[in-house]
Amino acid sequence: MTAVDKRLFGTVDGADVYEYIITSDKLTVAVCNLGATVTKIIVPTAKGNIDVALCYENPEQLLTLSDYNGATVGRCANRISGGRFTLHGNEYTLFCNDNANHLHGGKRGYDKRLFEAREVSCGVEMRLFDKDGEEGYCGNVDFSVTFTVDGGALLIEYRAKSDKDTVFNVTNHSYFNLNGQDDGCISDNLLQINADGYLPVDEGLIPLGQVQSVEGTPMDFRRAKPIGQDLNADFTQLKIAGGYDHCYCLSGSFAAKAYSPKTGITMDVFTDRKGLQFYSGNFLKGNKGKSVYPKHSGFCLETQNYPNAINTAEYCRQSLLPKDQNFYSKTTYAFYAADLQ
Ligand code: GLA
Repeated sequence: MTAVDKRLFGTVDGADVYEYIITSDKLTVAVCNLGATVTKIIVPTAKGNIDVALCYENPEQLLTLSDYNGATVGRCANRISGGRFTLHGNEYTLFCNDNANHLHGGKRGYDKRLFEAREVSCGVEMRLFDKDGEEGYCGNVDFSVTFTVDGGALLIEYRAKSDKDTVFNVTNHSYFNLNGQDDGCISDNLLQINADGYLPVDEGLIPLGQVQSVEGTPMDFRRAKPIGQDLNADFTQLKIAGGYDHCYCLSGSFAAKAYSPKTGITMDVFTDRKGLQFYSGNFLKGNKGKSVYPKHSGFCLETQNYPNAINTAEYCRQSLLPKDQNFYSKTTYAFYAADLQ
């Protein structure tokens, strides 16, 4: 049995923002309609209820402190090189909010927009009409994301339709710490990623193009290891990004597994996307300016297409959303807690 409750989360520009609390006997997930943001993921354990998602308490904090915490990120998650792409001979210029690159949908990406929420069976649907020209993208996109809870699993389903050929690559940007959202450091969280290869990046964190094997490098997560084991290794790709901030090229629908020896909480990630951006919270800044969460206090497993795919010959089709085509994609984050002694 899954129940859905609703509470006022605050206001944005005079509009009420609501948080929807979706509860089963194995999981409670809260989602608010500002940015279709996952605000809480609470796993019941023998030691009590543990919130494993790093997030904020009200819309104002989300708009001022958040590093995309829990947000739905779009129209294109991750970076687009130089904020430019060409489609059918037309060049499109996007807002560059990450040095010379476009990041996570631009200045007012999906994370900053108000969605229209509707309760559905076992969850909530959030809908957004993303207009032609917003942030420089082409085509009106009718977008929705549905969050449902089934036992210990959070299912996130994305649907979209555009009235012009466009680019599209959405994800969820939850930061996890399976020790608990305020535990401070993720280094002892174990992580396994089902990928033999990843995309090395340049100084601006744009993939260089070719897939590189993880074999024999600190990037290898094919067997579970603590995130902190190689985090500070003397390895160029880790130095460039200040930790892990790379797209893994997934070998199948099972994407990743994480585990906390401290709480006994396990999280399994499944997706139909080809890429998984593993980000170790390198830009979190503690109490300095943005974010109250310290560096490396949460990790993201963002299921998506390969970043900047539209500007590559090999992968450009991945992020194309043809006119009038129904886009559908699903990612599952499943949680379970072992009974610790
Ligand atoms: C993503 C990116 C990171 C960073 C964060 C947000 O995960 O890959 O480089 O921009 O989002 O801070």
